[in-house]
Amino acid sequence: VANSKIIPDDEKGYKLDLFCVPKHYEEDLDQVIIPHGLIMDRTERLARDIVRDMGGHHIVALCVLKGGYTFFADLLDYIKALNQNSDKSVPLTVDFIRLKSYCNDQSTNIVKVIGGDELSTLTGKNVLIVEDIVETGRTMETLLSLLSECNPKMVKVVSLLVKRTPRSSGYRPDYIGFEVPDSFLVGYALDYNEYFRDLSHICILNENAKEKYKV
Ligand code: IMP
Ligand code: MG
Repeated sequence: VANSKIIPDDEKGYKLDLFCVPKHYEEDLDQVIIPHGLIMDRTERLARDIVRDMGGHHIVALCVLKGGYTFFADLLDYIKALNQNSDKSVPLTVDFIRLKSYCNDQSTNIVKVIGGDELSTLTGKNVLIVEDIVETGRTMETLLSLLSECNPKMVKVVSLLVKRTPRSSGYRPDYIGFEVPDSFLVGYALDYNEYFRDLSHICILNENAKEKYKV
C-alpha cells in the first residue's frame, strides 16, 4: 500500500493569520490545513519514489486539468532536479487532459472529458497520471479505463490528496501525498466553482463561502 501522511478528522490546522492568504479570500476560509511549504516537502519525496519505481524508461507525465496543474508543475520540477543531479536520468515528456465531474461541492456521476491530446499517443509508454485529489475514485477509474484502450506499457497514478469518505469506491492511487478528512478543500489549484486556485495553501472552505460562490 502507498505510504502517505494521514491528516486526522480532528486536525485543527493553522490559523489563517499565521500565513499569507489573499485578502479576497480571508472571509471564506476556516483554517489552513496543509501549508504550501509542507506540500512542497512531501512532493519532493513523491518525486524520488516515482523515479525509483518508474525511472528505468521514458515517462509521459499526464496532467489532469485543471486542478492538477500546480502539483504537476512542482512535481515535475523535483523530477527534473533528480534527473539533473544524478548519474541516472530518464526522459520526461508531458501531456494534458481535462476532466470535469464537479458542480458546487458535489461530485456528479458523469465524468466529462474536455479537450486533451489524442490518448493514442500514449500507446507503449510509461504513463504517470498526476491528479490533485481522489474522492469517490470515479474520475480516476474512468480515466484508467479510457487509457487502457490505448495499451500503454505501464500506468501509475500519483494524487496529492485522497479523501477519507464513505463515498469512495475503494480505488487507491499508487502514490499519495496526504490522506485528508471528508471536507471540501481549496487552494493549490483545487477550486470551488473556479475560485481559490489562486491560493497557495490547502484550506477548508467554510459554509458561508459555499453559498457565496454557488452557481
Ligand atoms: P472523484 O471522481 O469523486 O474521485 O473526484 C475527483 C475530482 O473531484 C478531483 O479531480 C477534483 O477535481 C474534484 N474534487 C473532489 N474533492 C474535491 C475538494 O475537496 N476540493 C476540490 N475539488 C475536489
Ligand atoms: Mg481533478
